[in-house]
Amino acid sequence: MVRLEGKVALITGAASGIGEEAAKLFVESGASVVIADIQDESGHQVVASIGSHKVSYYHCDVRDEKQVEETVKYTIAKFGTLDILFSNAGVMGPLTGILDLDIQELQNTMATNVQGVAATVKHAARAMVDKKIRGSIICTTSVAACLGGVGPHGYTASKHAIVGLVRSACSELGAYGIRVNCVSPFGIATPLSCKAYNLEPSEVEANSCALGNLKGVVLKARHIAEAALFLASDEAAYISGHNLVVDGGFTVVNLRNFSAL
Ligand SMILES: NC(=O)c1ccc[n+]([C@@H]2O[C@H](COP(=O)([O-])OP(=O)(O)OC[C@H]3O[C@@H](n4cnc5c(N)ncnc54)[C@H](O)[C@@H]3O)[C@@H](O)[C@H]2O)c1
Repeated sequence: MVRLEGKVALITGAASGIGEEAAKLFVESGASVVIADIQDESGHQVVASIGSHKVSYYHCDVRDEKQVEETVKYTIAKFGTLDILFSNAGVMGPLTGILDLDIQELQNTMATNVQGVAATVKHAARAMVDKKIRGSIICTTSVAACLGGVGPHGYTASKHAIVGLVRSACSELGAYGIRVNCVSPFGIATPLSCKAYNLEPSEVEANSCALGNLKGVVLKARHIAEAALFLASDEAAYISGHNLVVDGGFTVVNLRNFSAL
């Protein structure tokens, strides 16, 4: 597997879940990877588990633009360039109704999921433009970017905003040969979803299987990593501004209507 041979990737939120799987898959696929996260211990554990000189951990709180800028600089100093940004770090926020919306929590969700993604796109794109790299930028949104009612209000708003940011950045960066896309996962058992819904991983998976349209597949973080790998690779050479929804058809069918026929 050499789909990313010689490429350098920066992945945020890679100390856990989808980002961790992507870091493993990108290294397996020939890339050098910087794992950026706020969970330092877990980040170092992921590096140790991959066990390659082609992976490194760097502390980065995406809410702090300075740290994002330093992380991009670190990536280039460590591995010489930056070809791929997978801007994946995110939080869900509390599951409160709109009548009880906590504005401070909303601000934290926006600071992480929107401002954080925007800062990573800005600084990665600057480096790519500066070095004349025809790079690939991928942001993680969610099925909550396609539908209301499948996540907390702040989360849903933030994930819709990422799709807008991706389209907007795509419109400008195409001139430099830089592609900008996003992936929208359905429910996966990761610490984010297990904590938010106070469920065991097996319960999150059982819910997704019950609610999902496509039967016989249990959605895993690896499936999202594979979608990100495709968008990062030359196989997606003319794909930009796209939202790759990885949901087995969940957001394009209405199972309730169908069962009523
Ligand atoms: N798990 C799901 O069901 C699901 C569904 C759709 C979308 N997503 C999205 O996938 C992405 C990854 O989430 P996951 O499910 O792998 O959860 P996760 O909790 O396993 O991973 C999220 C990572 O982001 C990091 N992070 C949080 N705030 C950060 C910050 N300020 N700066 C840097 N890193 C930060 C966390 O430390 C963690 O390592 C998120 O953007 C999430 O919204 C998840």
